[in-house]
Amino acid sequence: MRVVLACDHGGFKLKSEILDYLTGNKIDCLDVGTYSEESVDYPDYSVKAAQAVVSGECDLGIICCGTGIGVSIAANKVPGIRAALCHDTFSARMAREHNDANILTLGQRVIGPGLALDIVDAFLRAGFQAGGRHCRRVEKIAELEKRTCP
Ligand code: RB5
Repeated sequence: MRVVLACDHGGFKLKSEILDYLTGNKIDCLDVGTYSEESVDYPDYSVKAAQAVVSGECDLGIICCGTGIGVSIAANKVPGIRAALCHDTFSARMAREHNDANILTLGQRVIGPGLALDIVDAFLRAGFQAGGRHCRRVEKIAELEKRTCP
C-alpha cells in the first residue's frame, strides 16, 4: 500500500508525526508537502494529494490542516475523491467500510498526535465492504459527480 501525505502550515507537525509513524511501520509514503510551518494555501496541497490518489499513484491519502475542514472541502472537489474528516476511530473505520473513503483528513489543532495515529491505523486497516448497499450508495455519489461536474 502506498499512502500520500499532505498538509498546510497548520497541519505540518501532525503530518510529520504521521509520516514518521508510517515509514517506521514500513508503509510506503509519498510526501507532497508542505515542508515547513511557513504559511501556505491549503487547497494547493490538498489537490496534490487528491491527484496522487485519482491517478492511481497512491492507494490512499492523509491530509492535515489546522481543523481538517479546509483540506477536506478542497479534496472533495476532485472527481473520484471521497475525503472524510475523522476525529475518532469509529468514524475512520466506517469511512472506509461504508463510504470507501480514499482520503482521511485530520486537524492538528483539534486532536493530539496519539489519537491521530490511532485514527490513521483504523483508517488504513479497514477495507470497503464491497457489494450490496454500500456499493450502490457510493456508485450514486459517482453518478452525482458525473452529472454535476462538467
Ligand atoms: C490555517 O490557518 C487554517 O485555516 C487551515 O489550516 C485550516 O484549518 C483550514 O481549514
